[in-house]
Amino acid sequence: MATIAQVAEAGWDTLQKSILYYQGQPVGTVAACDAETDALNYDQCFTRDFAISAIAFLLRGEPEIVRNFLITALRLQSRDKQMDCFKPGQGLMPASFKVQTQAGNEVLDADFGEQAIARVAPIDSVFWWLILLRAYSKTTGDFSLAHREDFQRGIRLILDLCLIARFDMFPTLLVPDGSFMIDRRMGVYGYPLEIQVLFYAALRSAEELLCPGGENDDYITVAQKRISHITYHVRQYYWLDLPRLRKIYRYQAEEFGRTAVNQFNIYSEAIPDWIEGWIADNGGYFVGNLGPGRIDFRWFAQGNLFSIFTALADEPQSTAILNQLDHAWDSLVASMPLKACFPALEGRDWELMTGSDPKNTAWSYHNGGSWPFLLLPFVAACQHCDRIELGHQAMAIAAERLQIDHWPEYYDGKHGRLIGKEARTPQTWTIAGFVAAYELLVNPEKLAMLQFDPTVIMACDTELGELRPT
Ligand code: GLC
Repeated sequence: MATIAQVAEAGWDTLQKSILYYQGQPVGTVAACDAETDALNYDQCFTRDFAISAIAFLLRGEPEIVRNFLITALRLQSRDKQMDCFKPGQGLMPASFKVQTQAGNEVLDADFGEQAIARVAPIDSVFWWLILLRAYSKTTGDFSLAHREDFQRGIRLILDLCLIARFDMFPTLLVPDGSFMIDRRMGVYGYPLEIQVLFYAALRSAEELLCPGGENDDYITVAQKRISHITYHVRQYYWLDLPRLRKIYRYQAEEFGRTAVNQFNIYSEAIPDWIEGWIADNGGYFVGNLGPGRIDFRWFAQGNLFSIFTALADEPQSTAILNQLDHAWDSLVASMPLKACFPALEGRDWELMTGSDPKNTAWSYHNGGSWPFLLLPFVAACQHCDRIELGHQAMAIAAERLQIDHWPEYYDGKHGRLIGKEARTPQTWTIAGFVAAYELLVNPEKLAMLQFDPTVIMACDTELGELRPT
């Protein structure tokens, strides 16, 4: 049987075939090279998928394609102030783009969600771009790209877009359903963890990349303030472990005013049955969503794993998340790492929350399916916490199947033993996730490109609402 290293090498070769060229330059990777299935938009370069490829390219010492992508995405960024609701808002970056030929010339055709299935908004694109720009700068030591005036303006436009005051008054970002990797209706509207963690990492990237002076000073101050508020908010209110579960179970409800303990008015009746037996004594995790009268108790992998190495989670929380993964290995990893979300929505919940979506039936695709690209954040999280044996274990499981199965997009089943019903093969971020995870296993110091200083200054504001740090 092939070793992890051999599978990674084969993956690296296959990854080359997904490279997308524009005017002779490599600018991205297509989502899948599947010749047998209807391409839909899988022949495009998706920002979030390319982020995983980009990390693989950076880790393998090939930054050029990442640089070209960053420039291309910046060119595609929507620049005009918009009052027209059918045009992408100022600062937005596309979900995906493709290269087309018009009158003999190559042109880029970007999709900001106006063509995507269900017209979902790609809110995560701008966050990935910022995270990548920082990873590129840190890895190559070339900050001159990020410091270029067009890049500085691009960063400010993104901050304008996501830091603007809206109707709600939480430090987290309010988004519609399907605004990130789970780009279908799955009850992930509101304040999903997956978006909050990317938002936080993007703010930290922006704060680092903006050159001090002039108008940037205000942006830096506002970003720092928001980083401290969101850090406090997520660590405090999204956190679930046994002590907190016990507290929620005995919560008083209908409290009014500043002294309320149960600020979100969560009813203990909303605690799902599976949680009591599932949560480890020494485990914990950030819940999937939090809003008025609502905790979504589901586990979401990407947000929890990213929170570890980006230092959104504090140290004890990071340890507890990995303890939870270890404890619940059979439900989260089993035969293929890693479940994007757990547990699956079934029966009436599936009908109501997904709109009876046949692609997202229980234990399939986003709804309890297993996504190998998550190996990258998984190994990164293990590395960060000195628990690399867990990372090795997951990689060994994946190495047994991925190459033989031609790198499927996802796996189905409670144990991840079935190639996803509609999975593309080969899927680029599956390959890139494995290749990048392997590179981190052998070069742990390179993880620095995704890590942030763990000391976040928690603001002590006094003109406070109840949800701010005191
Ligand atoms: C699917 C996934 C999405 C991914 C895209 C391209 O739509 O849900 O996360 O970006 O395919 O692979």
